[in-house]
Amino acid sequence: MINDKKVLYSGMQATGNLTLGNYLGALKNWVSLNEEYECFFGVMDLHSITIRQEPASFRKRARNLLALYIAAGLDPVKNCIYFQSHVSAHAELNWILGCFTYMGELNRMTQFKDKAAKHSDNINAGLYTYPVLMAADILLYQSDYVPVGRDQQQHLEITRDIAQRFNAIYGDVFTIPEGYYGKRGAKVMSLQDPSKKMSKSDENPNGSIYLMDDADTVVRKCKRAVTDSGSEIRYSEDKPGVSNLLEIYSACTGKSIEEAEKEFDGKGYGEFKPAVAEAVNAILEPMHKEFERILQDKGYLDSIIKENDEKARYFANKTLRKVRKKVGFTDIPR
Ligand code: TYM
Repeated sequence: MINDKKVLYSGMQATGNLTLGNYLGALKNWVSLNEEYECFFGVMDLHSITIRQEPASFRKRARNLLALYIAAGLDPVKNCIYFQSHVSAHAELNWILGCFTYMGELNRMTQFKDKAAKHSDNINAGLYTYPVLMAADILLYQSDYVPVGRDQQQHLEITRDIAQRFNAIYGDVFTIPEGYYGKRGAKVMSLQDPSKKMSKSDENPNGSIYLMDDADTVVRKCKRAVTDSGSEIRYSEDKPGVSNLLEIYSACTGKSIEEAEKEFDGKGYGEFKPAVAEAVNAILEPMHKEFERILQDKGYLDSIIKENDEKARYFANKTLRKVRKKVGFTDIPR
C-alpha cells in the first residue's frame, strides 16, 4: 500500500512498433485503473536489449514510448512513468532473485522458447533470465496488481513463485502480486492469421494494426482481415477471424460482444469491417495528436522524466534495502 492505495505495476518493452494488441491488452486497462491505484509504469528498456537494438533509434523509441503512455491518457503527475534503466535497483534485485530461481522453472517458459526460435543467432543469457528481471520489476514496488495481456501470464506466475519462495525463507518481504487481465482484448490475434497473437515482430505488416498507423492504413488492414466461411457476424470458436474482429470492436467501443452481434445481425462484412476500422481510428487519432504535442515539448518531457525517476528510485530502494538486509549483505556506510 502507498498512500492507502493498492499498488499497480506494468510496463512495455521499447522494441518494434507497438500494436493494437499492446494497447487493448495493456495500456487501455492501465488508463482505466489509474485513478484507483498507486501506479508505476515502466518503459522496459533493460528487457529490450535481450534483442539487439540500434542505439540511436532505440533511444528515440524509448522516449517515444514514454510520451505514448502520456498520450494514451496516463497523467504523469498521478502515475509514476519512468525508464527501467534509470533505477539501478531493478538490475540489483534481478541478480538476487536469480539466485532464488531454478533453471527448471526458466526452462518451462514458452516465451523464451518462442523468442529463442525467432532469434536463433542470439540466444543470450538475458533472454533466458528475462522473467527474473520482470519479477524484480514487479516485486520492487510491492505491487498488488499487474495488468498485462495473456501472453505474460506465465511470467506472472513465476514472479509469484519466486516471491513466495523468498518470503518463506526471510519472512514477509514481498507483496504477492496478482495478474489483471481485461475482459476484452487480453489476447488480440493477427488479422492475417487468427491462430497467432498480433505481434510487433510479425513479418506480415497486414497482420498487425500499429498504434502509429494512419486512418487509411487501418481501414485497409481491417478490410483485408481474413474472415471465416459463412457471412454471419457471430462470436464462436469456429469463427476465429470474425471473433477477433468482434473482440477488437468490443474492446474499442466498450460495447459487449452480444451488443455488437446484434448491431451487425443480418449485415455483411462490407458494413462490419469499416465499422471496426472506425472504432479503432476513434482511439488512435486523438492519441496521435496528443503524442505529437507532447513530443514537441522537450522541456516538459524532461521534467516529467526527472521527477518520476526520483519517485521510482525512492520506492524501489526502500524494498531493495530490506532485501539486502534480509539476505545478510553488510551495511553500506553512509
Ligand atoms: P510487451 O512489451 O511484449 O507487451 C506489452 C503489453 O502488451 C500486451 N500484449 C498483448 N495483449 C493482448 N493481445 C496481444 N496481441 C498482445 N501483445 C502484447 C502484453 O501482454 C503486455 O502486457 N515482459 C513484458 C514487459 C514487462 C513487464 C514487466 C510487464 C517487463 N517487466 C513487469 C509487466 C510487469 C513484455 O514483454 O511486454
